[in-house]
Amino acid sequence: MATIYPKYTDAELKALSLERGALPKHIGIIMDGNGRWAKKRLLPRSAGHRAGMEALRGVVRFSHSAGIEALTVYAFSTENWRRPKLEIDALFSLLVEYFHKEIEELDLNGVRIRMLGDTSAFSPKLRELMDNAVERTKNNHGLMFNVALNYGGRAEIVNAAKKLVEEGVPADEIDEAAISDRLYTSGLPEVDLIIRTAGEKRLSNFLLYQAAYSEFCFTDTLFPDFDSNAYCACLKEYALRTRRFGRAL
Ligand code: IPE
Ligand code: IPE
Ligand code: MG
Repeated sequence: MATIYPKYTDAELKALSLERGALPKHIGIIMDGNGRWAKKRLLPRSAGHRAGMEALRGVVRFSHSAGIEALTVYAFSTENWRRPKLEIDALFSLLVEYFHKEIEELDLNGVRIRMLGDTSAFSPKLRELMDNAVERTKNNHGLMFNVALNYGGRAEIVNAAKKLVEEGVPADEIDEAAISDRLYTSGLPEVDLIIRTAGEKRLSNFLLYQAAYSEFCFTDTLFPDFDSNAYCACLKEYALRTRRFGRAL
């Protein structure tokens, strides 16, 4: 049964110690720690990925309820092909399951789905499912939910450069906007906050160009345990940051 997600009022946000005006517009999440979560429980890594998928449901729902404009989650990097085939297969079948199960509810809640990355490498079944999800939700006006799949920040910049050349854009017309417009994220708001779970403090090739002025929140919580409390803690931390963008205070 598809559920309508609540939309929090200002008072409800306050009860969570959040202030609407101090929320990031666009949040990126490096969903890390599924493997460690499984290992701690003596379970196969795929069980960790399944638990991560459950956590993702909660993250999308909370983002919608809090009125976040855009959420970009890192689901599979261009470097993740280095993992054992068994794990990659398990991850992709979970993705098929996710889109299959969730599309109805996401659409009902006005979520707009977009894929960031090179999807040409995927099976026809997964591509069709993704294309359908994107097509079905493209006119929605709610949360912009972007799934970074076979995504690499460097590859994204290389692609943008190729597009500029293919389009024959003269060198003196190439500026930051010209590059931004040719990234997978074109048209999305600036990434205000990047959250990484599971304690690692690196970008691992995520949103390299877009992260120029992002704030970062690193939490030790493993992604399958990243619930609304953990998410709120990151949003509270973000609200306390002073963003200067190079200016003197
Ligand atoms: C993140 O969890 C999910 C993906 C990279 C797809 P990991 O699988 O990297 O979990 P750890 O880092 O091994 O704990
Ligand atoms: C980053 O996590 C990629 C995703 C979350 C999809 P990794 O677990 O692959 O990153 P590294 O290898 O620890 O840098
Ligand atoms: Mg990892």
